Amino acid sequence: MAGIPDEIIEEIRSRSNIVDVIGGFVQLRKAGNNAFKGLCPFHQEKTPSFFVDGARQSYHCFGCGKGGDVFRFFMDKDNLTFVDAIKMLANRAGVVIPENTYGNSAESRKKADERERVYQIHAELCSLFQKILRDNPQGPVAQYLKSRGLPQEIIERFKIGAAPMGWTTGVDYLRGLGFRDDEMVTAGVALRGHRDPSRIFDLFHDRLAFTIENEIARPVGFSARSLEAKPADGRKYVNSPETPIFKKSRLLYALSQARTSIGKMNQAILCEGQMDAIAFHRAGFSCAVAPLGSAFTPEQAQILKRYTNHIVLAFDADQAGQKAFLHAAEILLPLSMELKVMHIPGGKDPDELYKNGGAEAVAQAVNASRSWLEVLVEVLHTRYDFTTPVGRGEAAEIVAGYLEKVPDQVELEVYVSDSAKLLQVSENAIYSKLSTRHAQLRRREEFQQHQAGPEIAPKQHHYNAATLTLLEVAISSPDAARKIAELLPGDELSGDDPVAQAINFAVGAALNGDEDGGVAPIRELLIEHPVPEISRILVEHTTYKDAIKAAEDAVSEFRRNRCISERKTLMEKLALTQDPAERTAILQAIQNLSRRSS
Ligand code: UTP
Ligand code: MN
Repeated sequence: MAGIPDEIIEEIRSRSNIVDVIGGFVQLRKAGNNAFKGLCPFHQEKTPSFFVDGARQSYHCFGCGKGGDVFRFFMDKDNLTFVDAIKMLANRAGVVIPENTYGNSAESRKKADERERVYQIHAELCSLFQKILRDNPQGPVAQYLKSRGLPQEIIERFKIGAAPMGWTTGVDYLRGLGFRDDEMVTAGVALRGHRDPSRIFDLFHDRLAFTIENEIARPVGFSARSLEAKPADGRKYVNSPETPIFKKSRLLYALSQARTSIGKMNQAILCEGQMDAIAFHRAGFSCAVAPLGSAFTPEQAQILKRYTNHIVLAFDADQAGQKAFLHAAEILLPLSMELKVMHIPGGKDPDELYKNGGAEAVAQAVNASRSWLEVLVEVLHTRYDFTTPVGRGEAAEIVAGYLEKVPDQVELEVYVSDSAKLLQVSENAIYSKLSTRHAQLRRREEFQQHQAGPEIAPKQHHYNAATLTLLEVAISSPDAARKIAELLPGDELSGDDPVAQAINFAVGAALNGDEDGGVAPIRELLIEHPVPEISRILVEHTTYKDAIKAAEDAVSEFRRNRCISERKTLMEKLALTQDPAERTAILQAIQNLSRRSS
């Protein structure tokens, strides 16, 4: 599965006891033999309805219905993909995943190995930078951090370090660990000499080093700040170049520390740089991230969208900040993401705001964030003369240009109504500004919707009680499962819905002599299809005094139910046809059904 060998996934699973892992996030109380309960991390509640089952290595919340195995937990909690959940747990459990995501050719394996080496170089260098900082409390970097008031806990949480003084300290250190010069150059941590390309030098030296991590907290690059306000070489920051693992447009500073909060707070704060992001985290807004010294990209927006639809922009109020705001709006609006803008009093940056006003001032500013539309109109006020019809018309034109990017009709209508108020024009005036292209697009969509008939509701599973009971009984004991197999042979149980599959897993396991009730494949099923009914049945552990009788009852109830629904379908068909031959056939089928169920 997922390009990662099954035995590795099993290894990770077996080293990640769900009770320990979830216990790290949720306070669990004993609720039975190897069963625990706590407050659900997925919804607000005061009495615990979140159950973790050690025996079946699964969880289920009776409140919100979330449930599954240990991987599913992280997919739910941190909006991770299955692969990222595996990687994350592998990290935690100390299992090394062979990087074969490129396929299996010798060439692709070589590439994967190279990547892994680049990761290792960053991990080692990051440790070195951290160690240098720790060992030199009187050194320039430690003093600088102190002058900016960064506490130890933050320095550790963000893996901040000190790049060494010499020009080859890092290079020598990595050589000592067995890394080759060309690997260090590929990794972007060393540069070849101008005069003598056979010699290499540290890219990062004598600076404060911010570690850039990827989403799952592996160091992938550095951003190193000069300790002087105006460095002689004019380079305030020295940043990692693009490498196999460092793609600036797809990374966000502080995301690994922020992602859980972003999901929980259901908002992300986007700020300008490392220092600002850290200031937010210190102020209790651990949902803050920053692009890496370049403009916000659509890829970064897509990453944030996996966690939330609500973005608060915390850029400077200057000209550059204004430009960045307009740019962010262009990226976020097409994604149906809500954008708010935070105003920082006194034209300061968030770092200064925190330094001067503390967490309270930051919270106040965040809470006072205003909608992008309000801010846009305010910006337009400085550029157009709203007292003249032409000026206001031009401003409306610009606003319409942004509204055009909103794909959702309901959102658009709300924005149009807001813009009309802000610009003091009629809604119709705004609609007329929406370009002809947009109108055409809209008409086409309406047409297509019309063609397709009324919108079909997303497929929802409403499992009938009889099918669920059948699953419950099948899991309860191998004897019951075998009885079900006997009574419901072959295709009677076919169906590709997850519950039917789960029943088949339980029955199959029993026929194979597995005593675990098919729990393992059922858990796996929940990774892709987190059906609440199934995770509930897993943690409920229903047992029956007489397993055979329970199986018989469940099967007859299941059959009776199916007859009822089949009859209903046939009756509907009958009502729709006038063709005599067809009617006879349908009536015959209905009679057969009655005979079978009696
Ligand atoms: P700032 O100049 O606002 O720096 O650049 P800062 O983070 O507030 O740092 P302090 O407060 O002066 O220490 C914002 C971000 O732009 C990137 C960095 O990521 C920085 O955090 N940047 C800035 C560069 O990449 N290179 C530069 O030369 C300057
Ligand atoms: Mn700053």
